[in-house]
Amino acid sequence: MILSPLIVFCAILALLYTMANRGGRSSKPNQSRPNTRSTDKKEALIPQGALSSQDFDSNSSPSDSTSGELTMGALLHMFNQLQSSFKALHDEFTELKGVNKLLQKTANDQHRDIIRLHQELDDLQQYGRRENVCFSNVKFDERDPTLSPMNQVITLCDGIGVEVTESDLVDVHPLPARKGMAKRIIARFKDRKLGQKVLTSRKNTKHIDPAKKKKLAADPARGFGIQPNITPARSALLSQAKTLVNQQGFNATWVDIKTGAILFKRRPGDRPAVIRSTGDLVAICSDFVPNEHFFSVCKDDLFDVFNPRDNDFSG
Ligand SMILES: *[C@@H]1O[C@H](CO)[C@@H](O)[C@H](O)[C@H]1NC(C)=O
Ligand SMILES: *[C@@H]1O[C@H](CO)[C@@H](O)[C@H](O)[C@H]1NC(C)=O
Repeated sequence: MILSPLIVFCAILALLYTMANRGGRSSKPNQSRPNTRSTDKKEALIPQGALSSQDFDSNSSPSDSTSGELTMGALLHMFNQLQSSFKALHDEFTELKGVNKLLQKTANDQHRDIIRLHQELDDLQQYGRRENVCFSNVKFDERDPTLSPMNQVITLCDGIGVEVTESDLVDVHPLPARKGMAKRIIARFKDRKLGQKVLTSRKNTKHIDPAKKKKLAADPARGFGIQPNITPARSALLSQAKTLVNQQGFNATWVDIKTGAILFKRRPGDRPAVIRSTGDLVAICSDFVPNEHFFSVCKDDLFDVFNPRDNDFSG
């Protein structure tokens, strides 16, 4: 396929030569040119090296062309020069193409490595949060000892049937409020099993006595929230999963209390799948178009070098 431009080029050369030769004949009708009678395309296809200027015109040299006439020798010289620079360029191009593919493959591999490291780092951060439980819609006042976050959390736990004392808690403090949301409280338990017990008992918040709820809730009209403490990136991924559930009418998505993993159920009877990345959500539903990727790369951002035959540099 790389020969075809050469063939076209040779054809043009042959045509040029025929025209130049005709012009030459009218001014020098009796000049002897023994081997130049056939200048058709077939002859122009003779491979490089098979012809030399001597075979055509022993009297003319490349410098003859300064006289304004295109002699066969000059053309051949030009042709050989062009051909060798074409070959050099072609070799360089082939080499660069290989280098480019290698660079693209390296970029993709590094993308994957970065994602893997990002996931491992997030797992590590999540691991450190296993003892934590987040509470929302809890009324508290840090200046009032009876309404301290610690006291309010202990009272709420008591309200859902889990006995917690101050010595069970490492620390209880308010979390910085997120945009447009009420302040939450984070509690760190000494024993993560006790924290998990609080999480598994969270359904009981519905049965808290209204009089007690009035003292406990920031907004008594709303329910309490008791959630595992997940990393910010995981939290962003969870809200994408929730969007997908709402958009496409899938069954549910939630955070596993013990592992902090995001679980996703398409239909009521399905086994929940672990969601590790935005890519996992796109794999569940190709119609889902995220505006950001967490723990994965948008396919469009990867170089298209996955053809195994393309990646073979051994040959
Ligand atoms: C070419 O022909 C002309 C006359 O037509 C003649 O005078 C001249 O000597 C010839 N040249 C050669 C190289 O034969
Ligand atoms: C999800 O499935 C559960 C059963 O596993 C069912 O009780 C619940 O209503 C379903 N929710 C939705 C929104 O489909």
